[in-house]
Amino acid sequence: MKTDFFGTQLQSPVIIGSGPLSYSADGMIRLHQAGAGAVVTKTITRYAADNPYRHMVQCDTNTLINCEKWSDYPMEQWLDTEIPKAVQAGVKCIASVGHTVQDSSLCVEKLEELGCTAIELVSYRDETVLPMLEDTKKRVKIPVIVKLSPNSSDLMGHARRCEEAGANAFTACDSMGPTLKIDIETGHPVLGGADGYGWLSGAMIRPFTLQKICELRKQTRLPIIGLGGVAKWQDAIEMIMAGANYIGICSAVILKGSEFIGKLDKQIDTYLAEHGYHSLEEISGVVQKFLPGKDEKKPYQMGYDLEKCNHCGRCIKVCPYHARTFGPDKTMVIDEKECRKCGLCVSICGGLSV
Ligand SMILES: Cc1cc2nc3c(=O)[nH]c(=O)nc-3n(C[C@H](O)[C@H](O)[C@H](O)COP(=O)(O)O)c2cc1C
Repeated sequence: MKTDFFGTQLQSPVIIGSGPLSYSADGMIRLHQAGAGAVVTKTITRYAADNPYRHMVQCDTNTLINCEKWSDYPMEQWLDTEIPKAVQAGVKCIASVGHTVQDSSLCVEKLEELGCTAIELVSYRDETVLPMLEDTKKRVKIPVIVKLSPNSSDLMGHARRCEEAGANAFTACDSMGPTLKIDIETGHPVLGGADGYGWLSGAMIRPFTLQKICELRKQTRLPIIGLGGVAKWQDAIEMIMAGANYIGICSAVILKGSEFIGKLDKQIDTYLAEHGYHSLEEISGVVQKFLPGKDEKKPYQMGYDLEKCNHCGRCIKVCPYHARTFGPDKTMVIDEKECRKCGLCVSICGGLSV
C-alpha cells in the first residue's frame, strides 16, 4: 500500500528498523525489493564497530536478545559507497546516526546531499540526543526522526523536549534491556561482550511498545514509526491503533526472512478492505477514543458458544478460581459465585465470546 512520508511516496507503510539486515547497500536493496517502504541503515558513527563475539540469540518464539553494536563499516564507506548505491537502486534510505553530536555533525549534510529520505538520531543516553537534534536541524532540511529508548527514565519528558527542539517524527522504540540468557549446560551467559547482557526485541516487547506509543500519541503531536514487537499482521494493526503512523519491524524479518515484508503489507491491505477502511490513517490512534478504559464497575459479560466448543477443557484448566467444569453432558457449567469475570478463559478460546 503506497504511503506518504513527509511528501515522499513509500511503496508500503512497513519501515525496516536499524539492524543487521541493513548492514550495507546490498542488504538494504534486498529489503526494498522485498517490498519495504523505507529502510533505516545500521547505525552510522565515527568509529566502525567490531562484533567478534556471539551477539545474537533467539529467546522464545519471535524474540531475540542481541548485543550487536552499531555499524562495522566506517562512516566514509557509508558516505562514499553504501548510501549512493542504495539510493541509486531506489531504496528510500533513512540514515541512522549515532551517538553524539561529534558523530552527527560530520555526516548529516552529506547524507541529505546523497538523497537520504530522513535522518534518524539514536543514542544510548537521552542527554546526548538533544544536542544532536539541535545541531542536525540547523544542518538539514529533510525530516529528522528521534529514536526513543524504552529504557529511558523519563521517556515522555524527553519526547516532549525533542518535539520542542524541532524533531519531525519519533521511532518508538528501541530494544529493551539489559537482559540475560544463560546456557544451562555450562552456566555461561549465551552472549559474549563485556558482561554477557543483551537487548530484547521482537514479540516479547510488543505490549510495552504499544503502551509507549499510546502515551506518545496522547502527549505529543509528531508522527510515529511504531517499532518493537511486530511479528504478525495483527500486531501491526495494534501498533497503528495505539497511535503509530508507520509500521517498523526488525526481528521478525530476521527470523522469518524478507518475504515476510510483502506478506505483511498484503495482510494489512486485506484487513483494511474487510473492515471498510481506505487507509491506515483512519485507524491510527483509535484506542485513544476508548481511554482511560471502559467503565470499571461494569461486570465483564462472557458468552458460551456450544457450536464452537470442542470440549478441549483449556478454559477449565486456566481458570484460576476453579469456576468452570463440564456438566454430565459435557456442557459448560460456570459457578457464578466463584467466577470473578477476569476474562482469561475468553482470551485463550474462540468458543467463548463477549
Ligand atoms: C541484532 C540487532 C541489531 C540492532 N542494531 C541496531 C542499531 O545498530 N541501531 C539501532 O538504532 N537499533 C538497532 N536495533 C534495534 C532495532 O532497530 C529495533 O529498535 C528493535 O529490534 C525493536 O524492533 P523489533 O521488535 O521489530 O525487532 C537492533 C536490533 C537487533 C535485533
